Amino acid sequence: MCGIVGYIGKQDTTKFLLDGLKELEYRGYDSAGIALLNKDKIDVFKALGKLNNLIEKVENSDLGTYEIGIGHTRWATHGKPTELNAHPHLGEYSYVVHNGIIENYKELKEELINAGHKFVSQTDTEVIVHLFENYLNKANEQSQENKVNNTNQAFKDTIERLEGAFSILLISKADPTKIFFFKHGSPLIVARGKEDNEVLFASSDAPLIGLAKEVVYLEDGVGGIASKNGIEFLSDDYSWSTLPTSKQFAQKDGFRFFMEKEIYEQSSVVSDCMLGRIQDEEILFDEIEESILDGIKEIKICACGTSFHAGLTSSYLFERLSKIKCSIEVASEFRYKEPMLTKDTLFIVISQSGETADTLEALKMAKKAGLKTLVICNVDNSSMTRMADFTILTRAGIEKGVASTKAFSTQTAVLWMLSLYFAKINASISFEKLQSELLALREVPKSLIIDDKIHEKTKRLSKRYLHGHGFFFIGRDVFFPLALEGALKLKEISYLHAEGYPAGEMKHGPIALADPELFTIALMPQNLLYDKIKSNVEELSARDSTICTVSPLDFELSDDFIRTQETSHYMLEFFEMLVVLQLLSMEISVRLGNDVDMPRNLAKSVTVE
Ligand code: G6P
Repeated sequence: MCGIVGYIGKQDTTKFLLDGLKELEYRGYDSAGIALLNKDKIDVFKALGKLNNLIEKVENSDLGTYEIGIGHTRWATHGKPTELNAHPHLGEYSYVVHNGIIENYKELKEELINAGHKFVSQTDTEVIVHLFENYLNKANEQSQENKVNNTNQAFKDTIERLEGAFSILLISKADPTKIFFFKHGSPLIVARGKEDNEVLFASSDAPLIGLAKEVVYLEDGVGGIASKNGIEFLSDDYSWSTLPTSKQFAQKDGFRFFMEKEIYEQSSVVSDCMLGRIQDEEILFDEIEESILDGIKEIKICACGTSFHAGLTSSYLFERLSKIKCSIEVASEFRYKEPMLTKDTLFIVISQSGETADTLEALKMAKKAGLKTLVICNVDNSSMTRMADFTILTRAGIEKGVASTKAFSTQTAVLWMLSLYFAKINASISFEKLQSELLALREVPKSLIIDDKIHEKTKRLSKRYLHGHGFFFIGRDVFFPLALEGALKLKEISYLHAEGYPAGEMKHGPIALADPELFTIALMPQNLLYDKIKSNVEELSARDSTICTVSPLDFELSDDFIRTQETSHYMLEFFEMLVVLQLLSMEISVRLGNDVDMPRNLAKSVTVE
């Protein structure tokens, strides 16, 4: 969940590091830092908070020329966000940047303190650099004959001792021509640059696009030593590939925030996501085969956050359309409950990034138990896509807003298509029903086009919904997961308390909270259980809760009303209401003066447990 970059070469090292960190800043912005190496002098800059603070510091300094550097943008795990805890971390003469968690850091730290090492931070990372120097000092005490060898060996010995998840870049005055690197659990890419003798590193491909000639997406357990003379890998388990050459970095295109741009992009990315997958009379996925369901009696889904909500939505569709038993669990819960895994289960993980630690671990467990695995993912070549038996990509493009939007709509579209694909294989759907579902699916991009009036309405309503003692988003059936997603969006960027609840369940407790200061956002689709949810909302209205209805049908008890279009399918209403909820939370956040794209305490991709 942090971002790391590294550079060896004759171009502007500082620029590469800072530009690269800008691309990765969404992964964490508690602090940032760079270490620049010039012969045997290392200059280090660190700053708390957003990257701009670091850039300012660097710009106001006397910089030398550097041919090696490493950088880091941090999302705090061990140790508060302070400058002391910011990476790169120093031993006596070496620096390290690290993404992940060293699980055995306490015992290592104790051992190193006993050996005389002094620690200045509260991080787990600092043990890496001390461990390295400890091994190196010992080796040099024994023999000074081959210092380069000693340094390389010290790095290997260090890696041997680390447990947990870690991708690492380490530089040292002991051998100032090199970057030592290793990947285990957290992502890391090494690249040959376009210029001669250039080596680049990044924890995801965004900083490398346009600058790298070829790249290696490192596998777990692979590392090496890089210098301007080349890259020496410590194992044979690697292969070179190329990156797209054009910079597809998401720019804001005139929108105020990446989140806003991504909300507006949903119509086109969902079209991309459907491209070639909806044929005349059926769904086709090139990535999987009909035999995927051979021997399968059950589907189990695991995911986190917004991806979990997409999964929960699909669990209704897999049962309703494909007639396959389907259960879903939050990945962090699934991992530790000693789940019963049987080989007649298709294990599906859903993840925008493909790197979320809990989901990845759940996938590993399923693989180990011999289950067939499928990942629905937005990032090709991510850890999950490399691990799962099958991958379906969501084709949403780079999502930069920390609050996920287009990832969710594309995931839901893929999962709806998949439920129909399975329904066809299982012959659980009539020809006519399949055709009417396909017709509706083709309309999804249209239902995601944003009507100016709706956006304006959410802006106006945002004034009213800034205070109060809480929000309940309520819905039934697939509108329950949508309610969860609406509440999550609001929490993430507005920092207001919100809960998503099944509408029929309000009377079993939460209704006790009802008063005018309780805001209920009621999802009332025309095509699914309208009368049922209407009764639930009436119950809340009778107890004076302030009601904001999202519906195509008039509802006289509403205090506020957001009118969606009349359509013939509840899933089209689902997508249109999704946009309403995303816009509403964004506008409330704007009015509160919050940072929409980088909300406090969050990170885009959570690669720690
Ligand atoms: C983080 C993000 C969420 C995201 C969740 C799962 O918490 O802030 O927006 O839904 O991780 O991420 P994934 O990449 O696995 O979908």
